[in-house]
Amino acid sequence: MRSLAYVFVVVYIAINTIIFIGIDRNTFLEDIRKFDLYRYAVNQQQSTWPLFKPCMEERDQNQTYVCKWVNDSRSDSTGNYVMYGSEFAVLHDVIIDPFRAAGRPGGENMSSVWNQKESEEYFKLKKSYFRLNCRNLPHHPFKGRNHLNGWFKSVMCVADLNSTLANQINGITIAVQRYEYVNLYQTMADFYNVFLIMILFQIPPDTINILYTDGHPAGMLDDTWQRLFGKIYRAGHLANETKFAKMIWNIQSYNCPLQTCSLPYVPYLERFRDFFLFQHDVTNMKVLNCSKLSVTIIWRRDYVAHPRNPSGVIQRKIKNEDEFLESVTELLRGHEVKAVQLETIPMEKQLELVSETDILVGMHGAGLSHTLFLPKHGGLIELFPAYHNQGTSHFQALTRWRRLHYVSWKNEYRGNEYPNKKTYIPPTVAISKMKKMVEKLCPQTVGVRSLKHHKKFQS
Ligand SMILES: *[C@@H]1O[C@H](CO)[C@@H](O)[C@H](O)[C@H]1NC(C)=O
Ligand SMILES: *[C@@H]1O[C@H](CO)[C@@H](O)[C@H](O)[C@H]1NC(C)=O
Ligand SMILES: *[C@@H]1O[C@H](CO)[C@@H](O)[C@H](O)[C@H]1NC(C)=O
Ligand SMILES: *[C@@H]1O[C@H](CO)[C@@H](O)[C@H](O)[C@H]1NC(C)=O
Ligand SMILES: *[C@@H]1O[C@H](CO)[C@@H](O)[C@H](O)[C@H]1NC(C)=O
Ligand SMILES: *[C@@H]1O[C@H](CO)[C@@H](O)[C@H](O)[C@H]1NC(C)=O
Repeated sequence: MRSLAYVFVVVYIAINTIIFIGIDRNTFLEDIRKFDLYRYAVNQQQSTWPLFKPCMEERDQNQTYVCKWVNDSRSDSTGNYVMYGSEFAVLHDVIIDPFRAAGRPGGENMSSVWNQKESEEYFKLKKSYFRLNCRNLPHHPFKGRNHLNGWFKSVMCVADLNSTLANQINGITIAVQRYEYVNLYQTMADFYNVFLIMILFQIPPDTINILYTDGHPAGMLDDTWQRLFGKIYRAGHLANETKFAKMIWNIQSYNCPLQTCSLPYVPYLERFRDFFLFQHDVTNMKVLNCSKLSVTIIWRRDYVAHPRNPSGVIQRKIKNEDEFLESVTELLRGHEVKAVQLETIPMEKQLELVSETDILVGMHGAGLSHTLFLPKHGGLIELFPAYHNQGTSHFQALTRWRRLHYVSWKNEYRGNEYPNKKTYIPPTVAISKMKKMVEKLCPQTVGVRSLKHHKKFQS
């Protein structure tokens, strides 16, 4: 009798092991992630960043996209200027001479620079804006249409640098020329590029200085830069020549892997997500519970974000917000359905909300960049108006890279389009798309079976 029980226990353990490895892989991955975050937290406290060494592990074979940059370097003969993979460069003891640049200083209150031209927010550099001890600079272009080629042209090599300049910035400074500085998606590309450099060179995030090398006014994502990295400087506010102990020219925003929807994977994307959340003190691990789904609808409403749109009128709004919310709420009775206008709450709260969300819903727009912060089991419902020229969708690509679920709808009926860029979303659409998504998340659960009996599904 005892041996029978023994056999039973062994079989029980074996079955559970199989279930653990085979079926319950998600839980397993969750646990690994918790462990990583924990290690990261501990390391942060002991200032022994990093959490992981990139380009070393076997599973990094697919990361060569960025790892090969580090091997592909070109240096001048002093080693004070090194460019990597036609994407970025590292400069030692470099002086910036602010008097060799023309453009807006940047950081202004938006209301004082209404309708200023965007071109004024990019510096025009003269020779010797950058000055360093260099010789035989490698003349190799940076990839694509790239401001770094302009920066390179303005470099002047000098044999003897005055080491007694009054202004000196120590540590590592990453110089960033931002494009669309208030667009969450574009800025995410800049954040991600800095993150890549940070992990490739193993730099603790809190020690990274960021130098905005552009003249953009103050923007609503400035605080996020501050939160993710160390000190923020503006090149346009340097009062005099300033020497930087080590400067890295950031990867150009449009060259970011995140901008290349056709990529089959984006290196270290989950690590980037964890880093971003962690820097905002968001460490919760949402577990899928099909009896209590959490849905967040993002409203796009007019708001003023930059000087070139003082009226604040934006495209791709939902005309019947209340009706939309009601249909979804009624469909998912007993579940949690929220609607939010993202720009009205701080980034930290946005991240808290999204990291607790199973299903994110919204009209195509930069706010859907939050797809990056959904839990690993999550899904995105993306809506498009009739006038949207649907090319490759960045947000669909995000779901593909993260292996999340994706459902979309495009309005095909002109009668649903209203003035002021508002689209009427028929409740039947809201319901059928949500139902489809719930079935993807919860294919066999009681939660869905109860949904199927919902009266709205009879139609
Ligand atoms: C790595 O890339 C190869 C070829 O693109 C692909 O078949 C494979 O599934 C990838 N492995 C992982 C772990 O993503
Ligand atoms: C970089 O170079 C080292 C040493 O030559 C080599 O072992 C490694 O595989 C290279 N990595 C990549 C991503 O090419
Ligand atoms: C910007 O200017 C407006 C109008 O002068 C003022 O109401 C607002 O407080 C200013 N904001 C900041 C951050 O200075
Ligand atoms: C060093 O400083 C002197 C005096 O301030 C100045 O004349 C000279 O041009 C400087 N040299 C460089 C390379 O900046
Ligand atoms: C800039 O610094 C130089 C010394 O490097 C000094 O001679 C000059 O007066 C400073 N200019 C201003 C405007 O502070
Ligand atoms: C899932 O949600 C239901 C309904 O709120 C709750 O009763 C149940 O305890 C939850 N299950 C887990 C594992 O949290």
